[in-house]
Amino acid sequence: MRAAVVRTFGGPEAVEVVEAEVPEPAARQVRIKVAASALNPVDAGTRSGAFGGAGKQIGLGWDVAGTVDAVGVASAWNVGDEVVALDYGMVKPLGAHAEYVVVSTDAVAKAPVTVDAVHAAGLPLNALTAAQALDLLEPAPGRSLLVTGAAGAVGGYAVQLAARQGFSVTALARETDEEFVRSLGAADFISAGFTSGDLAPAGFDAVLDAAVLGETALEWVRDGGVYVGVIPQAQPAPARGVRTAAVEVSADGARLAELVRLVDEGVLTLRVAETYPLEEAAKAHARQAEGGVRGRLVLVP
Ligand SMILES: NC(=O)c1ccc[n+]([C@@H]2O[C@H](COP(=O)([O-])OP(=O)(O)OC[C@H]3O[C@@H](n4cnc5c(N)ncnc54)[C@H](OP(=O)(O)O)[C@@H]3O)[C@@H](O)[C@H]2O)c1
Repeated sequence: MRAAVVRTFGGPEAVEVVEAEVPEPAARQVRIKVAASALNPVDAGTRSGAFGGAGKQIGLGWDVAGTVDAVGVASAWNVGDEVVALDYGMVKPLGAHAEYVVVSTDAVAKAPVTVDAVHAAGLPLNALTAAQALDLLEPAPGRSLLVTGAAGAVGGYAVQLAARQGFSVTALARETDEEFVRSLGAADFISAGFTSGDLAPAGFDAVLDAAVLGETALEWVRDGGVYVGVIPQAQPAPARGVRTAAVEVSADGARLAELVRLVDEGVLTLRVAETYPLEEAAKAHARQAEGGVRGRLVLVP
């Protein structure tokens, strides 16, 4: 099969599409024939060596939508099931940017029925991250929440899920993204070119910092509030009684199934910017590196 990997860290040109053995599922694993797989910021981190693994072949890709094609013993899935899954792992020999991927059975959920695989491929990593980040806020309906990077993948899902949970959500995003983030359920909007007068004077009860603004975003939390970041172990130190935490996504098929249900109910919207054939994975990385992409870039084997 073909698979996108890096063998030498670097820029987009470091991404190679190589021939690899089709992986076999072990016990409690399934093999998925990949229909579509999204490209995410974590893939750029892997490519550039941010997570180590020098000297090894490292497979790229965490998000997958496709069809179960082989099952190990004690798998809860059947050949032919249409699924989505999270292929967790920064340094792994093969990832989801491939023709086939093997994942743990409990990382899998039935695919949404209202969207195609290209759209569904944008769900697992970022919707799970948003949901698990909101868990760290100890949801309390009516509380105010600022989501930075609200037009991005994590931020966008967070706005939709938080609004549904009853938070009063303010979205911080680029000026041109106002209409979009309001359509996701943000009650208020702050432009990335904000002035301090735009911010709530007493601060927000909580900030979910998907734009990775760090200390700056911490300042927007009221005394005794909560800051949740998206870079594991890199949250600012607590200050003024503000509790700080960072989410680290984990594969959770049951949770993913709930998110799939929200897609099918029209609560969560999936946004695709462009698709690329797997062979053009390096081109997709180059486009992501340019910035300003709205919606996911999706690779199709
Ligand atoms: N901890 C975990 O388990 C986990 C899981 C998934 C993702 N992540 C991390 O979460 C972060 C977000 O991921 P993503 O996929 O959502 O990225 P994304 O789709 O690129 O979204 C980031 C958004 O933030 C915006 N932004 C950047 N600087 C801003 C600023 N100063 N003010 C307002 N908006 C700003 C970007 O706009 P422009 O494009 O215009 O710059 C973009 O819309 C990444 O760092 C990713 O690695 C962590």
